[in-house]
Formats: sequence, structure tokens, C-alpha cells
Amino acid sequence: MILIHTPSPKEIDAYLQLFRQAMPEETFVDHARADPAMVRHLVAWGIPDGMLPTLTRLEGIFMLGAGVDKLLSHPELPPHLPVYRLLDGGMTAQMIEYIRYGVLGYQRNMDLYRREQAAGQWRKLAPRLPADVHVGILGLGEIGAAVAKALAHDGYQVSGWSRSPKHINHVHSLHGEAGLEKLLESCDVVASVLPSTPQTKGLLNGERLSLMKPGSMLINSGRGDLVDEQALLALLNNGHIRCAQLDVFGVEPLPHDHPFWRHPAVALTPHIAAVTLRQEAVSQIVDNLRRKAHGEEMTGQVERGQGY
Ligand code: GLV
Repeated sequence: MILIHTPSPKEIDAYLQLFRQAMPEETFVDHARADPAMVRHLVAWGIPDGMLPTLTRLEGIFMLGAGVDKLLSHPELPPHLPVYRLLDGGMTAQMIEYIRYGVLGYQRNMDLYRREQAAGQWRKLAPRLPADVHVGILGLGEIGAAVAKALAHDGYQVSGWSRSPKHINHVHSLHGEAGLEKLLESCDVVASVLPSTPQTKGLLNGERLSLMKPGSMLINSGRGDLVDEQALLALLNNGHIRCAQLDVFGVEPLPHDHPFWRHPAVALTPHIAAVTLRQEAVSQIVDNLRRKAHGEEMTGQVERGQGY
């Protein structure tokens, strides 16, 4: 028996239908119809308190998202239970679009022209070519590596930073503290898709944000707790950082009185840079369940210690 749970009953119904079509030999149920002691797998996003202790024969959890920070900090998560995250779930293509949109807007000075428009000014700025813009991607996992490759293909200079060294064609790969500093100092646009882990929390503190090039842009579509928001605000206010495109925040939904809402240099979106596409998520999870049934290696298993 496989239990499907998300915060939205309508979404649960949609997932139940897709899973039953894709894997008719299995029993998929919602919480109301589940016999907790029969549930072997949980497919979920947002697990309510009290649910996990009732699932006494659980063999694994499949998350309906790429980031598993909330689950890993769930106090009721059994310590050795395997957890699988989505490696794509349709998110890679969306993340490429979201970051490409920000980089292209920066290259074509759209943020500056919006401000000129607000001031009623007709002023032509010097053109800039993709090759003149150096983009740094923080996080070179499945998604980040694909973003880096796409931007390199667009003609931008691309560097990438990750925990361990990576080799990606046409992408200058950096790692470690020195690598991070080098990326921040040299890039015109810094875009993060990093997950939230004990190592990434607060990584972009005031000191590191100040290393960013004068007139640069920050894009954050990974997790909000990467960035010291007050330090970012100060650097936007004094013009050191030209603009920011932010999809994730320390507190979500972003509180109504947060200065980001009305800041002329901030373009913000409500955590939609890359959302899970149901059909794609179902395909990966069904493929994984079949691999398990055949004793084959599964995909997306989370290294608890690393946080992704
Ligand atoms: C979305 O933020 C996800 O982690 O899937």
C-alpha cells in the first residue's frame, strides 16, 4: 500500500489518478482510506505531525519536490528510513527559464529601463553582449549543471560552484571557500539553486555578499535561508548590488511589511521558479518503485548527512 499525501485534497486526487494509471498493480490511497500498518511507501509534500509514527511498516518516503530540508528537520522522521527526492520532476527546464529570464533581463538592462520609465526618462544605455556577462551558478547538481550548460550555450561566460569539484564542458567549475569568493568577486550575475543544508544556511552573509562585483545582480531560486536578507537590502540600497530576482525567502509567504515587496531593485516571485509537474514526478517515482521491486539501484536517494 502506498499513501499519497500533500496539503491539498484536490492535488491528492490528481496524484492518485495518475499513480493508479501508471502502476495498476499497486494500491495507492489517501490518508482517509489508508490502513497505516499496511503502508509501505509514502509519497508526500508536507507531512503533518502525528502521521509518521502511525506508519509502522514504512520502507521509504518519496518527496514530491527537489528540496528535502523540511522533511529532514521533521522531528518524527525515523533516523534510517530511506528518503528519495525528485531529481527533475519537470523542474530543470523551468529553472533554466527562470534564471535565463533574469540573466537576459540584466544583460539587456531591463531593470534599469524600468527605473528610467518610472522616472519618465528616455535614455539609451550602452548595449552589452552575452559574452560580456559573466554568470556564476551556485549549486551544480542535476538542476544547477543544466542551468550552467544552457547559459554557456547562450553565449554567456559561465562559472559554477559546488561542494565537490565538477567537470562540465564550457563551465568554469569552482569549489571550496576560495572558489566561492572567486565566483562572487568575478561574476556579473550570481544565481543560486543551492538546497538548504547546515552548510548552506547563511552562506551568503553580509561579508560574502559584499564581495559581489559593484553593479551585479543576485538571483536566488534555491532556498531563502542562504541569504542574509538585511545585508542584501543594505547592498541594494547603497547600489553596490544593482538588482535582485528572488523566488525564495527566509519566511514564506514573504511578510506583507517586508521591504523587498516595494523595493525598486527587487523583482520577486512566490516560490514558483520551478514547480513539480505531476506527470513527471509520477514517472520518476513509479520508475523508482519498479527499480526497487527488481532489486535495482534507485535514483534520488538523499544522503541524510549532506541534506540532499
Ligand atoms: C521546490 O522548491 C522543491 O524543492 O521542489
